[in-house]
Amino acid sequence: MPAIPDFNDRTLSLGLARVSEAAAIACANFIGRGDEKAADQAAVDAMRTQLNKLDIAGTVVIGEGERDEAPMLFIGEEVGTGNGPGVDIALDPLEGTTLTAKDMPNALAVIAMGPRGTMLHAPDVYMDKLAIGPGFKPGTVTLSMSPAERVNALAAAKGCSTADITVCVLERPRHEEMIAEVRGTGAAIRLITDGDVAGVMHCAEPVQTGIDMYMGSGGAPEGVLAAAALKCMGGQMYGQLTFRNDDERGRAAKAGITNLDRVYTRDDMVTGDVIFAATGVTDGSILPGIKREVGFVTTETILMRSKTGSVRRMQYRNPTK
Ligand code: FBP
Repeated sequence: MPAIPDFNDRTLSLGLARVSEAAAIACANFIGRGDEKAADQAAVDAMRTQLNKLDIAGTVVIGEGERDEAPMLFIGEEVGTGNGPGVDIALDPLEGTTLTAKDMPNALAVIAMGPRGTMLHAPDVYMDKLAIGPGFKPGTVTLSMSPAERVNALAAAKGCSTADITVCVLERPRHEEMIAEVRGTGAAIRLITDGDVAGVMHCAEPVQTGIDMYMGSGGAPEGVLAAAALKCMGGQMYGQLTFRNDDERGRAAKAGITNLDRVYTRDDMVTGDVIFAATGVTDGSILPGIKREVGFVTTETILMRSKTGSVRRMQYRNPTK
């Protein structure tokens, strides 16, 4: 029997970029058309087709939902040709369906891949998230600190005033108190209506994005994708699952999670080497969106490897036929 090849992140990474490019391009005609479902379905179909061309024995661990509710790219779906290393895949073919439908910033096609057994099987519940960029001592900010304490601690670590800190937060009623407390420190807040994978990634490039810290609750699956991105770009992240009812606790149990109160670090969520690709769908501060001209479509993809910390930005111009 031939030996199973190792996870060769270097060789696999270009294939991964093709996967996120394909998902983004498939959404091009749905940007600003008000139809979230159609945009998402187009991205899912295209991502799956490209993924199945890769020489991997892949399992979707973060996907579009449970097998019975998501016909494609469901959690547990096996993808790839089967002729290659066993890998875990976390994906969101369209992170920001509403952003796409309304042509608002920062919608992305996102995928991460690592050796089998290296990614948290996050259930579809909320996660309380906290992230900062690279260059700070571990534990500079923690989930156990209050929002104001986090701003003060980060300002002290940066050697700046709290007024120089900008925090990114999802605009939701559940965050109103947190927003007021952060503003009470003098810090600024950039509110986003959706898309917290991009929100967390902003922290890794504070000079370009103007964001120093991300906080608040959002989807747990998106938390694992964001942890994969930060593992490549550098930066700290913490996540703690939150549960509103027994059904949600049951989902965690089904995913094999026994300690419901655990605080996960970035490296608890993604324990091994990981490769990450995201392609811009709509214009944003991390990536430009898809550009269309007669006969051509152009995308930009960020392609990263945690092993080397390499971050590539790739522009792709392709005839639309
Ligand atoms: P979609 O990909 O379904 O559009 O989700 C976008 C998103 O904003 C995520 O980035 C975020 O984690 C989650 O939804 C927040 O959930 P909610 O809208 O329930 O607050």
